[in-house]
Formats: sequence, C-alpha cells, structure tokens
Amino acid sequence: MTTLETGRIVGAGLDRVDAPLKVSGAAPYPNDFAVPGMVHAALVGSTVAAGRITAIDTTEALAAPGVLDVITHLNAPRLERGPMTLLGGSPPAPLRDDRVLHHGQHIGVVVAESAEQARHAASLVRVTYETSKAVLDVDDPRAEILDNPWGLDTERGDVTAGFARADVVVDERYTTPDNTNNPLGLMATLAHWQGDGLTVHDSTQWPHNVRTTLATVFQVPESGIRVLAPFVGGGFGAGLRVWSHVILTVLAARRVGRPVKLVLTRPEMFSSVGHRPNSVQRIRIGATRDGDLVAIEHHGMSSVAMEDDDYEPVSFGSAVAYDCPHVLTRDRQARLNIPCPGSMRAPAEGQGNFALESAIDEVAYAIGMDPLEFRLRNYAEEHPLLGLPWSSKALRECYTQGAERFGWARRTPGTGSMRDGRWLVGYGMAGVSYPFYQVPCQARASLRRDGSAYVRSAATDIGTGTYTVMTQLAAELLGLDVGRVRFDLGDSDMPYAPQAGGSGLTGALANAVHGACRRLVQEFLDVVAGDEASPLRGALLDDVTVTDGRVHRVGDVAAGESYGEILARHGLEELSADGRSTPPRSEELGMAVAGAFGAKFVEVRIDPELGLLRVARVVSAIDGGRILNEKTAGSQIIGGTVGGISQALFEETATDAGTGRIANATFGDYLMPVNADVPDMEVIFCGGPDRATAVGTKGVGEVGLVGLAAAIGNAVHHATGRRLRSLPFTIDQLM
Ligand code: MOS
Repeated sequence: MTTLETGRIVGAGLDRVDAPLKVSGAAPYPNDFAVPGMVHAALVGSTVAAGRITAIDTTEALAAPGVLDVITHLNAPRLERGPMTLLGGSPPAPLRDDRVLHHGQHIGVVVAESAEQARHAASLVRVTYETSKAVLDVDDPRAEILDNPWGLDTERGDVTAGFARADVVVDERYTTPDNTNNPLGLMATLAHWQGDGLTVHDSTQWPHNVRTTLATVFQVPESGIRVLAPFVGGGFGAGLRVWSHVILTVLAARRVGRPVKLVLTRPEMFSSVGHRPNSVQRIRIGATRDGDLVAIEHHGMSSVAMEDDDYEPVSFGSAVAYDCPHVLTRDRQARLNIPCPGSMRAPAEGQGNFALESAIDEVAYAIGMDPLEFRLRNYAEEHPLLGLPWSSKALRECYTQGAERFGWARRTPGTGSMRDGRWLVGYGMAGVSYPFYQVPCQARASLRRDGSAYVRSAATDIGTGTYTVMTQLAAELLGLDVGRVRFDLGDSDMPYAPQAGGSGLTGALANAVHGACRRLVQEFLDVVAGDEASPLRGALLDDVTVTDGRVHRVGDVAAGESYGEILARHGLEELSADGRSTPPRSEELGMAVAGAFGAKFVEVRIDPELGLLRVARVVSAIDGGRILNEKTAGSQIIGGTVGGISQALFEETATDAGTGRIANATFGDYLMPVNADVPDMEVIFCGGPDRATAVGTKGVGEVGLVGLAAAIGNAVHHATGRRLRSLPFTIDQLM
C-alpha cells in the first residue's frame, strides 16, 4: 500500500518552517490574542473535595473595582454536558448544582475589566460548604469500582494451566503516582460572540472537538463556531478534552456581551486540565527454565473522577507485547473525589509498560537469562490477539541495533558487578510495543498560477513539527521546493482533523495530505485531458511524475509543463483538491496494523552512600514507520525520553490526604528534570515505511517516553540488586 517513493525532501532533517516565527516571538499563542472590548475572567475553585455548597456570597466581589459579573450555579443557565468523543465522554458540565466533587472544582467565574481585577474579585467570593468525607484513595473501601470500563479486558489460553507449567513465577505489585501534564503554556481561552456566531481562541490539541462541544453545550449551530489554535504552548494531552474553563469562558462572554479571555494560573493547571491518574498494578509472569514465557496475568487499577470517564487501560499492552500462550489482562477504575484525569504522555502505556517491562526483567534474572535475550526469545512475530502478521514490526532490529549502539555486550550480568570509582554502574533495558492509533482526517491542497501551493487541515502543532513535516510531504508530492509550499492548520473552518494525540495525527494527516496532493495532480491532468497543446494530453496519474513545479511524463522531463502554464492557458487562477484518510483496518488488510515499537537502553550511576541516582546515557531505537523528518522525529524521541526520565525520577502530584487539595501545584514544588538531570540521549530509527497506509508513517511521539521508567528501574537493579516498584524512584528507595 505504500506508494510514496523515497524522495529528496521527505525524511530530510529540515529545520522547522515555523521556527523564525517562534524564536522572534511573532507566533501567536492563544493568550497572545486580544480583541477590542475584551474583558477578563478568573475562576473560583472549591476549597473542599466533597460536599455541598450551602451559600455563596458574591456581594463583595460584585462591588470590587471593574467587576462585570459573577457567575455561579445560582445564576448560571443549565448547561448541557459535552458530547461523546473519540476519547470517550466529555467531562461533567460545570455549575450544574450545589455539589462539590473535587477540590478546585470550578464553582464560579468572575468577569472584570482587567485580569487582575477579576482575580482579586474571585478571592472575595465567600463560599460555605457542608463537607462530606472525600474518597481519595483507590484502596478506600468506599470507592466505587468500575469493572472493565472500556471492554478491553483480554484473555487467551488458560493462565492457571500456564502458571502450573512455569518453573519460575514472579508476582509483584507496582504503583505509579498521579502526574500532571504541565505544558509550559498556561492554557488560555478567548471567546467572542457575535450574535449566535462564536469565535474562540483556545489552547487545544483538537479544534474540531472544541467546536462540536461548544455547539452541544450552547445549543448553537456548529457552522457558526470557529475555533482557532495556530500555535499551542505544548499539550502533553492536556488539550485533548474540552474542559470546564473553556465552557465557562464562552458562557461568561455571552453573559456580559463582551469578548472574554481566561488564562489559567499554574496551580489551576493542576486541577483543571487533566492529569495522569495513579495506578496500582499486580503482575504475575511465569516462565520455564529455558526462557519461554508461559503465562502473564496483569491487573490494573487506576483512579477516575466522580461522574467522569477517562481512558486508561493500563494492563492492555501486556496482551500484545509478547508471544505467550496464556495471558489475562484486567483493568478496573476506582472513583475518587479528584479532578478529572485525562490522557497524559502515553496514557496507560506509560504506566502499564513500567510494570510489564520491570517484571519481565525480574523473570529474566530469576531464570538467569540475559534480559535482552529473554525478550528476543519471546518475540511476537504475529499480533498475539489477532493472529495476523504485523503491517510492520522492526522491534527485533530495535533490540539488536540499539544494543549494538549502546554496548550492551559490555554488561556483566551480576548485580553490583560494574563500578566506576565510587559509582555503581547499571545497564538496563526495556521493550515497547506502542498501540496503533489513527482516526479519519481530511486535508485540502491548492496550486496557484504562480506555482505556489497551499495545503491545510484543522490539525494542531503542539510543538511536534506538524507544520514542518506536512510542508515537506506536500512539497515532495507536488514536486515543489518547500519554499513554494505553505501548510496551514489550527482553524476549525479548515477540513476536519483529529486530535494531535495518541501519536496518531502525523500518520492520519500525512495520508490525507497524500490523498489531496495526488488528487490535485489528477485535477491538472483532467484539465489537459483533451488539450491539443499539452504534452500531457490523455496521461493517467500513473503515467506522470512531478519535478520542479512541472508535471511530466515518467522518465521524460521534457514531456510536460508547469502548473502555472496549464492554469494560464485554461484561464484558471488555481485548482484545489480534497484528500481524506480512513484508518487502515486489520481485518480488511489481513495484517495487524502496527503502531510504533522501541527498545530503550539506559546506563545509570548510583552513589550508594548518598543515594544519588544519575541517568548517564540513553539509547532509544525506534521503529516509527516512515520518518518524515529525521530531525523533528528525533526531537520527538528526545523530548519523550526526557518525559520518561521525568516520570521515572521526578514527577509526582501530591494530594493532601485530609483535604484533597493538590499540595505541590507549582513549578517550584512539582519536580521535573533540568538539563543537569538529562544525559546524552541517542536516537536511532529502525525499520521502514509501514505497509498499511500510503505514506507509511506510524507516529513517534509517545513511544519516546514509554520504557524509560522500566529501563531505569532495571538498570538500578543491575547496579544495586534492589528492585524499585514504585514511581517515582526517590532517594529514600535507594538508601
Ligand atoms: Mo497525547 S497524551 O495523546 O496528547
């Protein structure tokens, strides 16, 4: 199915086309926008985690300077809940009633002439509560447990029989904490009503979802809503759902009849735009002395907010990672009085892979086999659930080439056997099988008489390089220099695009752009089909190729003409064409449509007296299908690696057990790696274009993060003999 010939533009490490705008400060992020008459909103958050609001006194707030309105459940219209989306249900609608379901819940919004006035007035809203005892822990017996909430539990073979055959069984409990997405850009919304028409600038990863949601919530036609997000200050998943603050900003703008802007504070970012929910996982793995996996049982429990649903099947990845005859995976959720979670940097996989790949290492040690050899021995040549060959899988190459680059062969197997002066040295590794995710996408391509192209889709570029790689791809497919192509995105009036999420946008959008560009060349052939003056008369799409702004017959550069010549002769200013991609389906193709794969190799150094843990080197070997730009794709993996180190060693959102308040909701208190914590990171790409789609790219975002936590933990074990099963790995666990 792969039809894109390897070209001179696609794949090259082109600098970001939007870099000059970004580094010069000219790229407008959502909170850079302003419109005449604009006023500002600030949120009022609940100060208890569970209970009822018994009174709200807004007298003082309303009397404060510049205040235009204070909206609470007492005077708000009843808002519809947002629709079902590809990511599940919308978060609960705000300001429905007097109930409080979590600390920091938005219970009011204040509108004032300035942001400072709004913020000050919000502090003057007096709320009294009737507090009930919050459920804050997944182990709390009062927590409602949701059984198999996504229908993704799996079972193959008979695990009881499998474990009976095992010579070695590892049975352990792994835990991961709440983490908070924390993109650098504070999320902002600017809403501007004109009659029933609404323009919204928003920090979203998915403009169409914002449009659909606002149409549902405010009962206005979607066609009258325009959502703009040309630049977004990072996402990490926080911009996938349409959160309460977006809806409240739009509501406030309607109430006061003025454009309203709301910018979340950093503490509000911890309780308003999702987080990676914590998990408790029990994993049991059985193997024979010879190194054959015979049974895997993985039970995941993660937390979810009251009345919310969020997609977090942490154990599912264990069903598809290895060739193993008996596998059972089970996912449960516990309802807690916490802010709504959401996808964050490799949702579910980030947690589940930590447990699986740590436990695999434990088994390898228990049978005395090299952990890399153990993984290769149990390699899944076919998709374990579908029984189909993969559309592409270069995980074996990732293992072997990554090991070679890293120098895995230098590893001596005994724990504590490698030293460098006072440092204990440990080598660890992990494998990653990232799930395929793609959803329908559309794009439109136009060529003008001056030989320039304009291609667009309502996607977002959250820093990943979407602008750049789609410019490259369109240039290649239309035979133009990249300087002649403009790719635009971030506008819901453009053709439909799915979310920049799940590592699925690049693949889906690339295939849509491919379709649009191919169809556009066809449009030119249609124009000259009966044109006596054209050397292309009667040519079929397969008869021609495109070079230097010209369409010409394959192998004969002279037998053709430029786009401009064709348009001019036919009195046309431009031609346009639409492309759409539909996700490839395993059943139809007779092969399992694959996501990305990866192998991570890590060297750690530990000072046993001080409990210091340093990640010294990381080699990531990645199969992401076709790599559209080796530089931006490499940067994705480097960024993901930093996220993985962060998950392993630093990040932990701490909820106060008494009040349900997030206790470390600032950048001062929420730990993240700085440059000194981040070592040399090497990235190599393995494999080639995936067979399932025209462009054959699989996405390289989240696969960069997954595996780091396990690889680091496994390296720590190699260095010290100590198993760390609870993230993040803090100093006390090493002392
Ligand atoms: Mo990603 S967590 O799918 O933005």
